[in-house]
Amino acid sequence: MVTVLSLNKVHLHKSDIQYPTSNISMHLPIFYLINFSIILSVLIFLIKYLWDMFFGENYEPPAWEHARKEGRITSELLKASRNYPDKIRLYNFWLQIQRINKDKVKGDFAELGVYKGDSALLIHLMDPDRTFHLFDTFEGFAGKDLQPETGKAATYSTKNFADTSLNKVLKNIGGNPDMLKVHSGYFPQSTVGLEEISYALVNMDADLYNPTKAGLEYFYPRLSAGGVIFIHDYNDKWEGLVKAVDEFAATIPEKLILVPDLDSTVMFVKNQ
Ligand SMILES: C[S@@+](CC[C@H](N)C(=O)[O-])C[C@H]1O[C@@H](n2cnc3c(N)ncnc32)[C@H](O)[C@@H]1O
Repeated sequence: MVTVLSLNKVHLHKSDIQYPTSNISMHLPIFYLINFSIILSVLIFLIKYLWDMFFGENYEPPAWEHARKEGRITSELLKASRNYPDKIRLYNFWLQIQRINKDKVKGDFAELGVYKGDSALLIHLMDPDRTFHLFDTFEGFAGKDLQPETGKAATYSTKNFADTSLNKVLKNIGGNPDMLKVHSGYFPQSTVGLEEISYALVNMDADLYNPTKAGLEYFYPRLSAGGVIFIHDYNDKWEGLVKAVDEFAATIPEKLILVPDLDSTVMFVKNQ
């Protein structure tokens, strides 16, 4: 501190005076802010934990819970299931695959509409020994499929779902590459040469009228008795898809079952 002496008096320049409390008061708001953030984070964590506990995030169907406790769910599937947001969709896939295996339903698995492979990953991990056919352009929607769409689907473009690639998908799915058969390109042209295959499970997730109609026409006659077809997004956002499903459902004896998952999957099991 600099002091200036004059006539026995000590003169202090204003700028030389240090107020001992000024530092504390400067730090106080930061201190409170940190405390407040910690308390808020703990509160948010607690509320989320309680919410999940009571509203289903931690819900497991008893069959899955038993299988998990008995070590029949692989660590890869457990990890994928924890990261997957739509638990009802996930458990629905799993329960159907359990049934298909128990009933020894013959046939391959297929997915139409793979995008980055998130649902394909689950299905593959649930039965890695099944041949699994993956159908997608891997470049997003085709312009000719978008053109007749109405409603919300009409606002989509060829850019939607284009941010993927076959390599990304195969990397995401990993698993047993020998069992994955990729049919890259426009569906149904990508089915040429695949007339003799039979299917036990098909997950259709192509959103639009054309591929959904073509998918049902291709897969249904090749679906084994006891085999299942899921059609994702049977909701009013996708008018064309709903129309394609309803038109086709009117021509088959099986009844559609609505699944209470996040995007309203509809499914049916082929009669014996
Ligand atoms: C909603 S994404 C699939 C999402 C994926 N099943 C999932 O759950 O992560 C729809 C996909 O259908 C594909 N698709 C739509 N029409 C198609 C067609 N005619 N031929 C091939 N793929 C098509 C798109 O390329 C897009 O990747």
